[in-house]
Amino acid sequence: MSAAREPSVSVLLDPDWAAGSLVQDVLRGLSSHPRTLPPKWLYDDAGSALFDEITRLPEYYPYAAERSILEAHAHEIVEASGATTLIELGSGTSDKSRILLDAFVQQGLERFAPVDVSEQTLRDAAAMIAQRYPGLEVEAVVGDFTLHLAQLPRGGRRTVAFLGGTIGNLYREERAAFLGALADVLEPGDSLLLGTDLVKSADRLIAAYDDERGVTREFVLNVLRVLNRELDADFDLDGFAYVPFWDPHMERMDLRLRAEMPQRVTIAGADLVLDLASGEELRVEISTKFRVSKIAAELEAAGLDVTRVWTDENADFALTLATKA
Ligand code: SAH
Ligand code: AVI
Repeated sequence: MSAAREPSVSVLLDPDWAAGSLVQDVLRGLSSHPRTLPPKWLYDDAGSALFDEITRLPEYYPYAAERSILEAHAHEIVEASGATTLIELGSGTSDKSRILLDAFVQQGLERFAPVDVSEQTLRDAAAMIAQRYPGLEVEAVVGDFTLHLAQLPRGGRRTVAFLGGTIGNLYREERAAFLGALADVLEPGDSLLLGTDLVKSADRLIAAYDDERGVTREFVLNVLRVLNRELDADFDLDGFAYVPFWDPHMERMDLRLRAEMPQRVTIAGADLVLDLASGEELRVEISTKFRVSKIAAELEAAGLDVTRVWTDENADFALTLATKA
């Protein structure tokens, strides 16, 4: 048996740049209506650990649904993709990646490149993958998939996996920009394997984002802890209620924090004083749910041809393989 190679880790987010980017996001987002924060700031070490806990909640069906599709169809996916390099965006703990990798390495996969903003989670996952698949080159990238697509590893036939439904956390314009930028950096024959949560009953959706144990509430509140720590802000977490709701018009979950009393918040690192009225809301995350036709339309509009679509037996979640022509 060959010895495990150390994973390489390229860091595209330098610490000063990340702080600067958070200030910009705060200044732009908190002055818009509703006040909004980009969800990537949810994933410090504590946020990544809370997300991991969410994936084990009985109410949070997307994780198990996507996992069941991967378990049932990994070999077909690998055959249809023909990739020698698997890149995974927003890979987190790379837990589900292992199902794909088990099938891919049997077909001669040479390289795995997980990409995530959550540095320690990514480093731990890359080390775990390198141990488990000796002989596979593991090139981890600490980066932002909305900014660093042009710096993804090149060469060979590539499949970019974007799992978990994370694309649904982007707004429609952001999704179009993301898919267009991705299509631009892919070579003909490269592909995208996209995981999307599907529209379903409001009851199940709300339960998935308002779990009984309150883990999702903690996850969403964590963004305020990040601002308190990184920007020396003084948000009082007890002064906010967690308000998740289903927006049937936009077909998305909308996860907000509502000030329960008037509050003055100082965000020293952004040189900002925020006066929140009682009842005023901060939107922390959206989670868009899709229909198969809508996914195909967005991919085709970006120049990616849908090759295959797989769903789980309850049609809760879809995995779509789309190829650059
Ligand atoms: N793919 C995993 C994890 C999903 S959680 C799964 O399916 O279970 C979303 C992941 O995306 C987190 O690990 C988070 O750190 C990462 N992430 C969020 N925004 C990002 C961005 N803009 N660039 C890179 N990674 C991002
Ligand atoms: C990462 N992303 C797909 C999750 C979702 O379901 O939108 C994030 C999440 N937010 C609350 N629970 C899970």
